[in-house]
Amino acid sequence: MKTLAIIGSQWGDEGKGKITDLLSEKCDIVVRYQGGNNAGHTIIVDGKKIVLHLIPSGILHAHSVAVIGHGVVFEPEAFQVELKKVADAGIVVTTKNLKISENVTVITSYNKLLDAARESQGSVKIGTTGKGIGPAYEDKIARRAIKLKDLFDLPTLKIKLARNLEEKETLFKHRYDIAFPSVDEEALRLFNLGKNIAPFMCDTFSYLDQAIIQNKKILFEGAQGILLDIDYGTYPYVTSSSTALGGVYTGAGIPESSVEEVLGITKAYTTRVGEGPFPTELFDSLGEEIQIKGHEFGATTGRKRRCGWLDLPLLKYAVKASNLTSIALTKLDILSGIKELKVCVAYEYEGKRIEVAYPGIDLTKATPIYKSMKPFTDNFADKLSIELEMYIKEIENFLGIPVGIIAFGPERKEIIFRKDYFEDDIQPELDLSSWGRQAGGLEGIYPQVDLEKLSRNNATTTKK
Ligand code: GDP
Ligand code: IMO
Ligand code: MG
Repeated sequence: MKTLAIIGSQWGDEGKGKITDLLSEKCDIVVRYQGGNNAGHTIIVDGKKIVLHLIPSGILHAHSVAVIGHGVVFEPEAFQVELKKVADAGIVVTTKNLKISENVTVITSYNKLLDAARESQGSVKIGTTGKGIGPAYEDKIARRAIKLKDLFDLPTLKIKLARNLEEKETLFKHRYDIAFPSVDEEALRLFNLGKNIAPFMCDTFSYLDQAIIQNKKILFEGAQGILLDIDYGTYPYVTSSSTALGGVYTGAGIPESSVEEVLGITKAYTTRVGEGPFPTELFDSLGEEIQIKGHEFGATTGRKRRCGWLDLPLLKYAVKASNLTSIALTKLDILSGIKELKVCVAYEYEGKRIEVAYPGIDLTKATPIYKSMKPFTDNFADKLSIELEMYIKEIENFLGIPVGIIAFGPERKEIIFRKDYFEDDIQPELDLSSWGRQAGGLEGIYPQVDLEKLSRNNATTTKK
């Protein structure tokens, strides 16, 4: 296997950061392709915690190249802060191991102001992260977004920003009555931020195209989860990007055939931050126990996560929506020792029993049907208990795909691989690490590789 997509199969925070970090060790390139700094991916190494919002979790491994694809909405100030945080943690980030698409959509101050104004004064409260994600994607779809490559010429940036502000100005002044920066101020702020980002700018489409041709091992790191997808999710209580599998193709810019496996990261129970339906939510002391034991607080906003039982009808839908080929079951340690264990195996809906939560269903009217499972008390040092094996089997049988990974703690070593991902494959000898157009330069502009020559190189590959 050469390419794998990691996708959250629930409402986010399933443990994608930890699994991405672990699998990055085995691959050459890690790509973020959607979302922005609404994501909070936690990685814990030897007790030290790092939360990444924008930079792919693969950055922790010196050999792997982190790529931010054009489907991401990119907040330049948040990026600067994160870059410093990563450097302070002793990670060396250079233009060789971090590449940002010149076409990422820039999140402006106007986007953040609009997000906050709608959440505080609007008629529908989504419970967003307040990072300006929705308004930035709106600008992109409306064809008035600022792209990263727009930050480097101040006069043109001003013209584009004026166009961008045109309609929002009316909202700021007359609907929400809030102050906002002038075009000149905002342009100068973005222009100055752009100077430090320019060296990382790259034609990531061509970079990934070459990487695929050269059989590089690539991991696509999803943010959020399938149930937050703009099309597949619990609309309108969703984020504004394509978090499901389709987002990989449009957001990273790769052909459909280039994702071989899709690993759905699945918490052993369910959590959700923000508003929206949640059929298996627990409102009792057990829900509170899971919330406290699981430290279920948002990694980006610090909000308490709502907690509930594992919801198999929703998971089955997620499997179908993203063609998941296996799942990683995380946070099993949190369920260990819990005196009662249930799993939702169907809904009662309009007098019928249904086992897949198709999107036509109004989840607020679905009554979960639970199967009581035997609680387990594993310490994960020994063989898994029969009770835990039965919990895993129940999930596998229901979903029809294997549980390939079991996680039982936040640390790297707290993991069991039941399936081999990125097994040692034949690798070509070509080096991609310095490839990519740096700002202002022409080095590496696509097409620059002789495909004939590449296939000859493939014929004489060596074991890595
Ligand atoms: P992500 O957004 O999907 O990357 O997940 P978050 O980082 O927002 O939240 C997952 C939280 O669970 C983080 O604090 C992780 O360190 C932690 N975590 C991940 N896997 C496990 C696990 O198997 N057990 C426990 N106890 N914590 C885990
Ligand atoms: P990771 O990648 C969990 C939720 C917000 C809100 C909704 C819309 O860490 O799993 P937005 O700011 O995106 O417009 O908010 O989506 N949300 C997340 N929930 N994990 C995330 O990311 C999330 N990113 C956004 O709480 O309900
Ligand atoms: Mg998170």
